Amino acid sequence: MKTQVAIIGGGPAGLLLSQLLHLSGIDSVVLERRSRDYVLGRIRAGVLESGSVKVLTEAGVGDRLAAEGQPHDGVEFSWHDERLRIDLAALTGTTVTVYGQTEVTRDLYAALDARGAEVIHEAEVLRIEGVETDAPVVVYRQNGAEHRLEARFVAGCDGFHGPSRKAMPDGVRQEFERAYPFGWLGLLSKTPPAAPELIYAAHERGFALCSMRSDEVSRYYVQVPVEEKVEDWTPDRFWDELRRRIPADVADGMVTEGEVLEMSVAPLRSFVSEPMRHGSLFLAGDAAHIVPPTGAKGLNLAVSDVYYLHRALDRFFNTGAADGIDSYSETALARVWKSERFSWSLTQMMHDFPQLGPFEKRMQKAEFDDLVRSETARKGLAENYIGLPF
Ligand code: FAD
Ligand code: DHB
Repeated sequence: MKTQVAIIGGGPAGLLLSQLLHLSGIDSVVLERRSRDYVLGRIRAGVLESGSVKVLTEAGVGDRLAAEGQPHDGVEFSWHDERLRIDLAALTGTTVTVYGQTEVTRDLYAALDARGAEVIHEAEVLRIEGVETDAPVVVYRQNGAEHRLEARFVAGCDGFHGPSRKAMPDGVRQEFERAYPFGWLGLLSKTPPAAPELIYAAHERGFALCSMRSDEVSRYYVQVPVEEKVEDWTPDRFWDELRRRIPADVADGMVTEGEVLEMSVAPLRSFVSEPMRHGSLFLAGDAAHIVPPTGAKGLNLAVSDVYYLHRALDRFFNTGAADGIDSYSETALARVWKSERFSWSLTQMMHDFPQLGPFEKRMQKAEFDDLVRSETARKGLAENYIGLPF
């Protein structure tokens, strides 16, 4: 089989890239290791920046997002019972949109289906050959047999554990990493949200987050030690722990009697792999970088990478100019590092780190107090939260 762009990974990055390339008249084939049901069953991100909404709309998948996505003008932070609302709309003139990653993925699959796009499921990419040539080949296994997909370029959109990043030679690839000694235990429930806006809560028992997917479905997280097993948690234990960490009036009003749809633990990590292009291979999304989820940047970074990559490939195939593909890595990484900084600093301020001494704990509180005191500080947070321009 032969195509112009071989896309490894059918998560949001790979599907969106396929859709945008199609609109530019460029052929692609998406290879996805899992089944479609598995991909759609993964509960992940919930908050979209306005730039992501714009790209998704331009990609032709904005209708349901416009109808069902919930614009949020503000977001709350709490420190024990002390609360601070960041007025995103007043500070930046824009909002974020609550719309689940599952829904984004569903919309993209619907668009790809409508045009009969080539998405090959249960196709596990084993290796990429010839990344330093103009004719790379992606070797994948499906139903026990090996197949080859020839392309002009390969887009590695295969997440943190995928093979694309490792196809960059050791002498070329440089990795930067920070692992955290905790994870987030998440619970998705068929209950109305505890509060109308998201609440990021710092507490001596650990961080907690109240989020939502709709008026009927809530999403909550509590910080847990990194080795924690989801099997050791019942919904009742989760609700008890969450209640202790969030403001008392929110805890008192929270509805917990409803179907629990999902519980899972996600480890926290900061990670960047440079460069994001080598020869005919490009990386986009979690394949190239991971942010801790505090601040909701991961999916949004995948969208901005894909925006830059699509623009570069469009220029290459439709005008012959290579400047876009040559500068892709530098352009994407400039935005990546800014989001890495924001996610890292918010994680640093809001979590209970086991190794922190009394001085560092006072520093965390001083950071929060600075937000309370200074509109300039709040504006800086708001600008990052709604998403830096791209
Ligand atoms: P993925 O979604 O990981 O997709 C990669 C795909 O590649 C997968 O489908 C995988 O099966 C496939 N693949 C892997 N290996 C192979 C192979 N060998 N062959 C073929 N296919 C392969 N981000 C936000 O912006 N906002 C949030 O609110 C937010 N909340 C989050 C909450 C949680 C609990 C978690 C875990 C993440 C959250 N994120 C959030 C991050 C966000 O979910 C990711 O950044 C996003 O999924 C990245 O998309 P991607 O397409 O790059 O990678
Ligand atoms: C969600 C996840 C996040 O990481 C975040 O910062 C906000 C919301 C969510 O899953 O709803």
